[in-house]
Amino acid sequence: PLRVLSGIQPTAGSFHLGNYLGAVRQWVALQETHDAFYTVVDLHAITLPQDPAELRSNTRLAAAQLLAAGLDPERCTLFVQSHVPEHAQLAWIMNCLTGFGEASRMTQFKDKSSRQGADRASVGLFTYPILQVADILLYQANEVPVGEDQRQHIELTRDLAERFNGRFGQTFTVPAPHILKETAKIYDLQDPSIKMSKSASTPKGLINLLDEPRATAKKVKSAVTDTGTEIRYDAENKPGISNLLSIYSTLTGAGVAELEQKYAGKGYGALKTDLAEVMIDFVTPFRERTQQYLDDPETLDSILAKGAEKARAVAAETLSQAYEKVGFLPAK
Ligand code: TYM
Repeated sequence: PLRVLSGIQPTAGSFHLGNYLGAVRQWVALQETHDAFYTVVDLHAITLPQDPAELRSNTRLAAAQLLAAGLDPERCTLFVQSHVPEHAQLAWIMNCLTGFGEASRMTQFKDKSSRQGADRASVGLFTYPILQVADILLYQANEVPVGEDQRQHIELTRDLAERFNGRFGQTFTVPAPHILKETAKIYDLQDPSIKMSKSASTPKGLINLLDEPRATAKKVKSAVTDTGTEIRYDAENKPGISNLLSIYSTLTGAGVAELEQKYAGKGYGALKTDLAEVMIDFVTPFRERTQQYLDDPETLDSILAKGAEKARAVAAETLSQAYEKVGFLPAK
């Protein structure tokens, strides 16, 4: 089977709806058809300042949420990035193949560093995408399931894989992005011109999956909609309603056209009330399952230990090929 790899940052609190619909949902589906590797990227997390105790608990929390969302350790390899030292090792080689100007063009770095104040941003934040390149190439991934905001990083991965292969001989699989059109970009509920995100969204526009379900329902009901009354998918002229239709459609499996029909002649209020219910039905069991994993940290840690072992076997093989190609003298 083809292989997929993807990663998610261990953020404080909980994943948001954009993480789930844009990425994690695809991860769950792909474990059925692909050889799937998924990682909680704690090395990436420290590109911004982290409290050590919180980083540790957020890493467990991230893994618990991934399992609650439906990742099955029997069907995929779930691991913590820092448990597999090969990531940092291959990243160094990739750093040395990346042009300074090339790295400077990464838009996510520009956004994040300008938010921090460019001078205070770490060099780690600058080389963040190159570590991501190593994550992907170590597993010889054919596809990388992510949201639209990661497309540029996958392009960099392809460029560096081709560069390495061109210079040293065929070593790495050149991966393709796996980005689903309907959920590539989930928008803020209060400002549908920006993507839903922890850093840019206001609390009312951001659906955190572990929030109190009634609070989440309230946010859905007070989502900003557009002028007019017609419920129709039109991302350009009706971004608010279109975002709600995408979310509704993905969570229920009902097609957008089907939903347009169902709500023909009804107001925005009817759609929002129903979507609020759909959301409650989704987040309530998700919260419960996450809590169950958190209540049993030994099981959680042993799942992650087994995942790291499986991941390391693959990563070590790729790294040793890369070391040899580059010309490092083997240690005797
Ligand atoms: P992160 O942790 O920011 O986000 C995890 C995933 O969620 C997707 N996403 C969204 N999708 C749709 N709409 C949104 N509003 C939205 N917000 C976030 C992201 O596209 C991502 O897929 N750099 C990565 C983590 C990473 C990685 C990797 C990914 C590290 N190594 C290797 C793939 C392969 C990141 O920061 O994701």
